[in-house]
Amino acid sequence: MSGRLASDYTSWKKLQHIYDSDKSKLILKDLFGQDPDRFSKFSVEYTSKDGPDVTLLLDYSKNLITQPILDTLLSLAQEAEIESYRDKMFAGEHINTSEDRAVLHVALRNFNDFQIQEAGANEVSGVLQHIKEFSEAVRSGDWKGYTGKTINTIVNIGIGGSDLGPVMVTEALKPYSKRDLTAHFVSNIDGTHIAETLRVCDPERTLFIIASKTFTTQETITNAETAKEWFLSSAKEKAHVAKHFVALSTNTKAVTAFGIDEKNMFQFWDWVGGRYSLWSAIGLSIALVIGYDNFEQLLKGAHGMDKHFKEAPLEKNLPILLALIGVWYNDFYGSQTHVLLPYDQYLHKFADYFQQGDMESNGKTVTKGGHRVNYETGPIIWGAAGTNGQHSFYQLVHQGTKLIPADFIAPATTHNPIAKSKHHRILLSNFFAQPEALAFGKTEEEVKKELGSGASEALIKSKVFEGNKPSNSIMFPLLTPATLGALVALYEHKIFTQGVIWGINSFDQMGVELGKVLAKNILAQLEKPEDVVGHDSSTTGLIHYYQKWRKE
Ligand code: F6P
Repeated sequence: MSGRLASDYTSWKKLQHIYDSDKSKLILKDLFGQDPDRFSKFSVEYTSKDGPDVTLLLDYSKNLITQPILDTLLSLAQEAEIESYRDKMFAGEHINTSEDRAVLHVALRNFNDFQIQEAGANEVSGVLQHIKEFSEAVRSGDWKGYTGKTINTIVNIGIGGSDLGPVMVTEALKPYSKRDLTAHFVSNIDGTHIAETLRVCDPERTLFIIASKTFTTQETITNAETAKEWFLSSAKEKAHVAKHFVALSTNTKAVTAFGIDEKNMFQFWDWVGGRYSLWSAIGLSIALVIGYDNFEQLLKGAHGMDKHFKEAPLEKNLPILLALIGVWYNDFYGSQTHVLLPYDQYLHKFADYFQQGDMESNGKTVTKGGHRVNYETGPIIWGAAGTNGQHSFYQLVHQGTKLIPADFIAPATTHNPIAKSKHHRILLSNFFAQPEALAFGKTEEEVKKELGSGASEALIKSKVFEGNKPSNSIMFPLLTPATLGALVALYEHKIFTQGVIWGINSFDQMGVELGKVLAKNILAQLEKPEDVVGHDSSTTGLIHYYQKWRKE
């Protein structure tokens, strides 16, 4: 974030040297064999200092690192001035330099703890109060629709950060949800998404939440207009919109122009990035689904992790450790991707959420100073809930040619102890077994012994697991709102730390703009073949094919 090239740091050069000279010696089997205390040396337990109780264990011992490598990675963090940039973020300095904005999602969950000087930071508690009152009115049935009936369905219309966070959190915290309130999330401009949702909604009992920071996003505004038309075809009177449409936005003018009453608008500020906005008014659907008190626990859990990130020494600081280990694989081993593997069905949207969180933040090629980087920046993030992934893509992770660092995430206790927790014990046996198999593999000797004499050489080779595949394991007692808050904040700060090291701006997203502009231009040309001008032959050919076959 300093804008300096990471490859100029002395510790970066040292890491390159260590990698070149020691790579062949970094064998997990040997590292564990040489040091029986490896787990205790390379694991940290986080415990919240105040607020709700949260503990998280990070075991990073199954990584291709030694103490000297970790020390050099920590020096890299210091050389990149991570502590100074972290403090600038918390103080509200405009570290999003291209947009001249502060980066203050931490202010949304601060509860007057840290001193933050930025316009709007002192308005957070008022918006939380608004969320509390409104969500309680809807959940209790005090809020009535235009025919006097209570609300039993909410539809959040938003995309990107105005969708993914609420989707991920409401799924993750389903055990805390009001089961008789159905929540839908419409994001895609594909009319199928809104059409299929409206099909199961009752206009008299549905609340639409239009979630858009800018209130100009084409997908969201188009879906919102369609929802309004659908609603008015039953309700008739425009005045009834006030009972069924609310907005979450920074853009009051556009919200009122859409027809939503200003008092039904939940405000946030330009210092809340879209992909960091679930803690803001964008979390209204979360508060509606799990209740305001649980929403507040989520925020407080995240605040505990903010405090840890701000105050813990670098070598015990979970976000810093995750970030540095990630840099080691991304920039020295050349790993292209990083896989997130939650062994918790409730976290099935976690990887989707951090695809935006990480890739929109750190998918950059120039430093803040405008220099093209000569190293890799953000990894490709992907993943799925265990054990489903084991029966699809794990084959490649175990025996493919690529090195794919993995984060395994699991709760010790389940919310659903059915069959006396038999399911959970089986799930966790897999959670423990997979990192072990990845790290230690299976040798040719072991395979030969297993197959007995007479096995072909080809069969033996195909059953060998090379091992030495790195992973982190993260465990916690139970997936509570506060624990989820801490877990999400952990990854947010990991992303921040990596951005600082790479010298990039993690808080703008210029790369999504070009496609939007081109689509606008093409939309105006779709009517007639003769209108299709100014494109390459491929794009022209595709549009002509569409014009030939479209029916509507
Ligand atoms: O196009 C990318 C993006 O700007 C994201 O960063 C953002 O989360 C999403 O669009 C939605 O934006 P808005 O909340 O303004 O509708």
